[in-house]
Amino acid sequence: MTKTYITTAIPYMNGNPHIGHAVDYCLADVYARYRRACGDEVRLQAGADEHGNKIYQKAMELGLPIEEYVDKNSKVFKDFIGKLGVEYTDYVRTTDKSHEERVQKIWQKLEEHIYKADYEGWYCTGCERYITQKEYDENGGICPDHQKPYEKLQGENYYLRIADFKDRIRQAIETDEMLILPDFRKKEVLRLLEESPDVSISRPTSQLTWGVPVPGDDSQVMYVWIDALSNYLTVIGYPDDDSYEEWWPATAQFVGKDILRFHAIIWPAMLIGLGLPLPKTLVSHGMVLANGQKMSKSIGNVVEPLEVLGKYGQDAFRYFFLRHVDTFADSDFTWEKYDAAYNNELANDLGNLVQRLATLANKNQIVVDGDTRGFSEEYKKLMDAFEFSKAFDCVWDKIQALNKRIDEEKPWSLAKNGEREKLESCLGGLIRDLLQANYELTPFLPEASGKIFEVFSGEIEPPKMPLFPKDR
Ligand code: MSP
Repeated sequence: MTKTYITTAIPYMNGNPHIGHAVDYCLADVYARYRRACGDEVRLQAGADEHGNKIYQKAMELGLPIEEYVDKNSKVFKDFIGKLGVEYTDYVRTTDKSHEERVQKIWQKLEEHIYKADYEGWYCTGCERYITQKEYDENGGICPDHQKPYEKLQGENYYLRIADFKDRIRQAIETDEMLILPDFRKKEVLRLLEESPDVSISRPTSQLTWGVPVPGDDSQVMYVWIDALSNYLTVIGYPDDDSYEEWWPATAQFVGKDILRFHAIIWPAMLIGLGLPLPKTLVSHGMVLANGQKMSKSIGNVVEPLEVLGKYGQDAFRYFFLRHVDTFADSDFTWEKYDAAYNNELANDLGNLVQRLATLANKNQIVVDGDTRGFSEEYKKLMDAFEFSKAFDCVWDKIQALNKRIDEEKPWSLAKNGEREKLESCLGGLIRDLLQANYELTPFLPEASGKIFEVFSGEIEPPKMPLFPKDR
């Protein structure tokens, strides 16, 4: 059995779940469900990024003990992932003892590529990222994403010698050994790689205490990204438990485009330093915007995912963010678009189709046999290329075509005229094709597709409640 390991970015635990987090989870879950349906044994990781100044400062602001604060937030996130219908197999918190110990071992294994030196430069705590002088100048000293002046950092710290790995990383990207999707991001990453200096990977405890201590040096804690990136390995047992070898390299790692740079430079550098293979694919998705703008607390246009989920439930949420949010490009969320997608597409196209076919079959005592089902070639091709929103479109085309076919073939007239044989073949054909499309829906809409299969198995009964009720 093929073993497939899929990962999601671990969100910072400094607030509530964000729409963007849901995108990571849903994409990875669709792929996991698809691979499972193809017969693979799948592991899907999720987790919580709990260290660093950003989280520490937030807890201080709220006057909460930091442990209590991250405990509370990671519970909220776990619950949120469940509400999305995401079936993860592994969950890691970067404050887990086992994770911290393993990260320290990872550090020790990288020691020949680590050196200590003075640092002086800029940092944005909001981004948890070091800023080059060039970027500082371009942005006039203020982070465009957080609207805060960059901080000046000074002091001794440890560096990871990126220079040791550049040639190897470039080659892996250029040859698609580590495939970067979408393709147009490759050039951008290669440019960043060329410009990348050695990376500072620790901070003196005088500046940061909330992190994993550097082994053998009490005066330093690790840079949060070294700790966070390691989660993909520690959660599968690395380096203590050899079974990680069955799962690594990851088949696909899902990240937003804003954090691709960490995953395409620091992460492969760490892996090469550890003598491990590189992930097969880095899938970087676009950003969800609100009314065409970046969501931000200061603009006051943040869309709360729990509110969106609360309106029509899980299927509607997954439907919108997997079909109307393009897998790779930036996309816009508005409540108008959301309501329209729910009412016109889920309720009308799919809900009514199920209701009509089930009612006709029930009335005319039609039964369909449980055919073995599979994915169409077109669908597989798109799913294998991680073009999920396009694959979803192609399933939806089939659903709309079925609606058209009912209107053209008019099974109710066949029933009225007593044309039993024709009626059986017409309705049987429509239902079989619906179930075939429904099979392709399962990775996207696991709840709804489960209900649809149930409606048409054995004696067909129309759902008592519409699948997607409109009067909410
Ligand atoms: N903690 C790091 C990730 C460490 S992974 C080893 C981090 N956390 S985050 O909370 O800021 O972001 C988590 C994920 O959510 C990232 O993949 C990010 O791209 C995604 N999104 C956050 N906002 C987003 C949108 N508005 N739209 C789509 N995804 C975005 O980065």
